[in-house]
Amino acid sequence: MKKQVLALSTSPRRGGNSELLADAFLHGAAAAGHETEKICLYDKNIQFCRGCLACQKTQRCVIHDDVEGILEKMRRADVVVFATPIYFYEMSGQMKTLLDRSNPLFPAEYAFRDVYLLASAADGDESAMNGAVKGLEGWISCFDQARLTGVMRGVGVDSPGAIRACPAILEQAAQMGRNV
Ligand SMILES: Cc1cc2nc3c(=O)[nH]c(=O)nc-3n(C[C@H](O)[C@H](O)[C@H](O)COP(=O)(O)O)c2cc1C
Repeated sequence: MKKQVLALSTSPRRGGNSELLADAFLHGAAAAGHETEKICLYDKNIQFCRGCLACQKTQRCVIHDDVEGILEKMRRADVVVFATPIYFYEMSGQMKTLLDRSNPLFPAEYAFRDVYLLASAADGDESAMNGAVKGLEGWISCFDQARLTGVMRGVGVDSPGAIRACPAILEQAAQMGRNV
């Protein structure tokens, strides 16, 4: 079955390591015949959640910025892929801000069932991603029909694009994409 695969790249660095993981994943998914799209937060205008909870009743956010369009794409996607740099052993603040702003989806009909996390860190130990995994699992636990289907741990990469020197990791990400 042809799936809609949406990658949300949350690094502020254009061409950063986590974005390259997302590119590899999407390349694999496209090669397997799925429809793919990547949204990068570095060129988006996104404010913090104000905590007003108006969205619980209206399914709409009171803030009118680029999140409106992103949420509509998230709602329709079959597969949602989050790509993030590890910041202080957690997901990036940009990713967390997007998760908070996704609250209008909570009472809504949404299509996504499979959620993936692609993370990059300077630390060479795979446990560097554990905080981000736990954080994303908290979000997923609020979306009953979704599950964390895969986690890609791009470790030992610091400067932007350093992950290009790790073809095995990029190939694993592409393989994950082919298998969505
Ligand atoms: C504010 C900040 C905090 C970071 N914290 C960590 C950390 O806790 N552990 C780690 O291994 N790397 C840390 N890093 C390094 C990034 O995770 C690493 O450079 C990653 O590959 C960046 O991904 P990107 O190119 O997609 O932005 C940090 C980088 C920044 C800018």
